Amino acid sequence: MTGDWLARIEGAGDLAALEAERVAALGKQGAVTALLKTLGGMSPEERQAEGPRIHALREAVTEAIAARKAALEAAELDRRLATETLDMTLPAAPLDIGTVHPVAQVMDELAEIFADMGFAVATGPEIEDDWHNFTALNIPEAHPSRAMHDTFYFGRTDGEGRPMLLRTHTSPVQIRTMQSEPPPIRIIAPGRTYRSDSDATHTPMFHQVEGLVIDKGITLGHLKWTLETFLKAFFERDDVVLRLRPSYFPFTEPSAEVDVGFSYEKWRRVIGGSDGWMEVLGSGMVHPKVIAACGLDPEEWQGFAFGCGIDRLAMLKYGMDDLRAFFDGDIRWLKHYGFAA
Ligand code: PHE
Repeated sequence: MTGDWLARIEGAGDLAALEAERVAALGKQGAVTALLKTLGGMSPEERQAEGPRIHALREAVTEAIAARKAALEAAELDRRLATETLDMTLPAAPLDIGTVHPVAQVMDELAEIFADMGFAVATGPEIEDDWHNFTALNIPEAHPSRAMHDTFYFGRTDGEGRPMLLRTHTSPVQIRTMQSEPPPIRIIAPGRTYRSDSDATHTPMFHQVEGLVIDKGITLGHLKWTLETFLKAFFERDDVVLRLRPSYFPFTEPSAEVDVGFSYEKWRRVIGGSDGWMEVLGSGMVHPKVIAACGLDPEEWQGFAFGCGIDRLAMLKYGMDDLRAFFDGDIRWLKHYGFAA
């Protein structure tokens, strides 16, 4: 009987067959288990004779199963080692690695270009109060240009009772810088800005870079030279032409909107059927009221400021045509414009 069991275990061709034999012998309903149960009903003499025999059977079967299992597993491992070869000469699967985003790239370029002109990088909070975002910039409460900004309000006020909002431009950094450091000042302030607006050229979150110079004897000529030097360096072309159009911002006087244009195929595609000029920034001489609101004497200090859409700069430089794609996080889009590895 022991021999029968051992032969069957030895004959199990794989782990599943071996498991079936184990259940048949040692499982709850197994034959060996049933034999063990018969011991309970025997007389002491019978038990003395049968007990060792049945226990020996159980032990032999248990050992045979373990041995067979080890043999089958070893054979399986040998088989896998023989068949599952790894071809070390195959090229590795390409990894999708991200890279610097165009917006971050442009911000770095701006910091570098302006550093050469002696500008430091300043920052301010994205969650602002209406005094820094509007009032100090000569946009009083009932001013129509507040409505033009499509502001996201938080519906609550800060510790000083000022309505809190997401900054609609980087201009509040002008205020914070003039309040926190003495002139002369030469800063740029790149960062996120927010307006409730969304189409192919507007996203609710976008990026601006602010520029601010406060010193003695600053004129419109300094502003024009700075913008020209900046845009030529940024577009890496000497044929960049600027057009300054008289405009209005409450915080600058006079104010000018600046268009750039040049003959460049990629640009033509982006600019489309228009007259070949693309508006890139707003600028002007800092309004005396703004200088005074920051505690400086406008008789002594003058300056210029400008505000420029970073996303728009990136679109122009890299020939992208839909602003919304900037914030989709689609690596195929980055690749298309040469940004991902
Ligand atoms: N803050 C203005 C805007 O968002 C741009 C600007 C900045 C204009 C500085 C003049 C001076 O449109």
